[in-house]
Amino acid sequence: MTTTATEDLQELVRSADSSFARARTPAELENAKAQFLGKSGRVTELMKGMGALSVDEKKTRGAAINQAKQAIEALLTDRRQALADAELARQLQAEALDVTLPGRQRGMGALHPISLAWERIEQIFGSMGFDVGDGPEIENDWFNFTALNNPPNHPARSMQDTFYVDMSDEQGQPYCLRTHTSPMQIRYATAHARRHAAALAAGQIPEVRVIVPGRTYRVDNDATHSPMFHQVEGLWLGENVSFKDLKVTYLNFCKAFFETDDLILRFRPSYFPFTEPSAEIDIQFQTGPLAGRWLEVSGSGQVHPQVVRNMGLDPERFIGFAFGSGIDRLAMLRYGVNDLRLFFEGDIRFLSQFR
Ligand code: PHE
Repeated sequence: MTTTATEDLQELVRSADSSFARARTPAELENAKAQFLGKSGRVTELMKGMGALSVDEKKTRGAAINQAKQAIEALLTDRRQALADAELARQLQAEALDVTLPGRQRGMGALHPISLAWERIEQIFGSMGFDVGDGPEIENDWFNFTALNNPPNHPARSMQDTFYVDMSDEQGQPYCLRTHTSPMQIRYATAHARRHAAALAAGQIPEVRVIVPGRTYRVDNDATHSPMFHQVEGLWLGENVSFKDLKVTYLNFCKAFFETDDLILRFRPSYFPFTEPSAEIDIQFQTGPLAGRWLEVSGSGQVHPQVVRNMGLDPERFIGFAFGSGIDRLAMLRYGVNDLRLFFEGDIRFLSQFR
């Protein structure tokens, strides 16, 4: 066996090494492999070329070729592994997650300040024995006006300009967006007519004692009026419910709502078609940032006999009071908000202060 023969095998291994190294993908590598180890590859050609050698020469040459072949196979395995490692590294890089980034959080929700005031009102009047009612925002003319002693063409209708809905009920009553929660006085009282009749039959004077918070609508829009606003209606009828009860009830409500005893209340004569006499309720804080100013918080009055009659009750036996307060106004005073529109703009910087 000549030196040249051995050198030519070393050369073959080096050539395979650089050919494998040039392969950039597994497919290219398999092509390169075929050039050396395939059926008509260079190693196979060398094997075939041994036919002319003597037996001894075959032994040595065969062993040398085998060694070269094994060396080439080892290089191939290494290169396969290197390509696979590179591919894995590329994938990991592409799908990399930065686990040090902060997670996405859901913002912490909270109740709207109007809802907070609304819930407070329900809770306080609830503790004073008032039921909580709920009624339609699209109301017909009878409940919103006429049943409340405010017939068509009555001048008091102009106190509450509203939005009309292009639709009327079976009796031809037009619908409007309710201008106040007062229609619920009639609806609530008539809905409980059976209970009242049963009590009367048993010789008792039944009571109507309810508040109705809800959305109301008027054609108004400035810093203290919004076309949609919130009211809470109060109604207490019974055998002998008087203005004295209204004063105590409302004062106790205000003390609880504003969390202070330093509060006085006055009635200021007013006019509503559905109450007689009627009064505005003003309150005055004796301490704190609002101290010393009379603040109007509610309309009120003794329920008009005609309205009691429209409830299906006898005004000779049922007497009592009603009030209607602006929930937004109460919330503004409680939270020190000076522009009503802030409540309805949905600005998170404003709303998140009430968490
Ligand atoms: N409904 C009246 C208003 O919205 C308020 C009110 C209610 C007055 C009940 C008296 C009695 O202006």
